[in-house]
Amino acid sequence: MKILNYGSCNVDNVYTLDHIVTEGETEAAEALAVFPGGKGLNQSIALAKAGLSVFHAGCVGADGDFLLELLRENGVNTDWVKQSSEKSGHAVIQVTKHGENCILVYPGANGEIREEDVTETLSHFEAGDWILLQNELAKTEFILKEAEKRGLRILLNPSPCNEALLAADLSSVSVLILNETEAALLSGEKEPLAALERLKKKYPRTQLMLTLGEEGSLFWDGKSLHPQKAYPAEAVDTTAAGDTFTGYFIAGLFEGLPPQEILSRASLAAAIAVSRRGASVSIPRRDEVEAAMARRHSENE
Ligand code: RIB
Repeated sequence: MKILNYGSCNVDNVYTLDHIVTEGETEAAEALAVFPGGKGLNQSIALAKAGLSVFHAGCVGADGDFLLELLRENGVNTDWVKQSSEKSGHAVIQVTKHGENCILVYPGANGEIREEDVTETLSHFEAGDWILLQNELAKTEFILKEAEKRGLRILLNPSPCNEALLAADLSSVSVLILNETEAALLSGEKEPLAALERLKKKYPRTQLMLTLGEEGSLFWDGKSLHPQKAYPAEAVDTTAAGDTFTGYFIAGLFEGLPPQEILSRASLAAAIAVSRRGASVSIPRRDEVEAAMARRHSENE
């Protein structure tokens, strides 16, 4: 059984400032740092750091060699990542001293995915293999349809959640991994438990992983609801905390671990990520997560 992540790769331009700039305002940033990012790349790296063999598919620009190298250094297979003459996708990220962020994404080469690329890539995968998707690439709906035709198990992080995704048929998705905002958009309910109930009715065959930031998370595995508290963290930069959680959560599902173990490991990995700057570079390795977990157990004994 293989796992493919068809996802975005971005260059993240991270500006540190006092507060998030609002409409009509101009503010000088205190620092600029450039990091590899993109929800797709971050999640592939999180999956790999959690211990899985991952195939990444997508598209980087002529300036994207360092993104490909980073994926390969982390053991991610990049045979199905195209390189185009466009610029790579990029993000403009404002991060405050308290770790809050605000992200603007320019698709760049992520918009260069063609239907023939999808068909060719998916022809290397078979029924029962897993495919992970976010919503920062062109052709998300087409990928969903092709993956369903091939009998792949589809895991979707509907982020960013836009009009096109809201109109798409998501009934073939086996696992939805979504935050409060995405849950509210897909369900029409603001309150998390009400949103979850609505989503259970809307997608009766789908497992639902709802992340709630500092409030923890809720996992509906199709039979029972598993709540998880968030681990306390000194937030420096919350960018990619969700991607870290997603990678570790999926790795745990893929390995068939019990739900509570999956959730506590994913939450702790995300707590470590928010205590560091940057996106993919902030994602902890599995041995770091396990060491932190062991420390917590011994402290609580
Ligand atoms: O989820 C964080 C990511 O969102 C960043 O790395 C940025 O590139 C945007 O895609």
